[in-house]
Amino acid sequence: MIGRLNHVAIAVKDVRAASDLYRGALGASVDPPVPQPEHGVTVAFVNLPNTKIEFLEPLGEASPIAAFLGRNPEGGIHHICYEVDDIAAARDRLVREGARVLGTGEPKIGAHGKPVLFLHPKDFCGTLVELEQA
Ligand code: CO
Repeated sequence: MIGRLNHVAIAVKDVRAASDLYRGALGASVDPPVPQPEHGVTVAFVNLPNTKIEFLEPLGEASPIAAFLGRNPEGGIHHICYEVDDIAAARDRLVREGARVLGTGEPKIGAHGKPVLFLHPKDFCGTLVELEQA
């Protein structure tokens, strides 16, 4: 069912510092940071030949990654995102398989403007999984 690895998301305290580090030390191409108040994050994408890295910096009081950074002050891998062809069919299959879909179970529009869902890390090897409709 899952297809390509769309991105690996890394929570960071400072998205500009992380972007400078990847540009400088790693020679990466990094897009400018984009505030996404509706998601409580500022996002910057690192473009790799085969996938992307998504830097997530908390934005606002109720940011969903503030607690994660509290536990991981240096930052850390926050989630991985796999592409699926049909997100509603993927959701129905996962529910049948007993996996927990976070939130209401209805896809939301994610950082790329496409529908996404998140799956409970305890059901997937301790890793928060994002599914994005390709
Ligand atoms: Co993501």
